[in-house]
Amino acid sequence: MRINQHPVLGRADYSKMITVYLDDRPIPAVRGEPVAAALYAAGRRTLRFTRNRREPRGMFCAVGRCTDCIMEIDGTPGVRTCVTPASPGMQIRTPGQGDCT
Ligand code: FES
Repeated sequence: MRINQHPVLGRADYSKMITVYLDDRPIPAVRGEPVAAALYAAGRRTLRFTRNRREPRGMFCAVGRCTDCIMEIDGTPGVRTCVTPASPGMQIRTPGQGDCT
């Protein structure tokens, strides 16, 4: 599953495959596609867990409104992965219990 034309990020460059890292594991991505889309394409559906009940959350609105997709990227917590373009070498971490709402 890839997003061809994102309403916020526009069109990704499908001629440029890159590698991002999810919890230190390499994941192929299209340069400029939403990070969440790259993770979905790699089979990842859970992007974070809720703080209190530790329930899984994945991409919901896909346009930066709901915060269900927030993850840590390059050391910055709370990044909306659905509106963050993938770039080479990006380090993505799954928030654990208590790291996000
Ligand atoms: S899925 Fe809603 S903000 Fe990303």
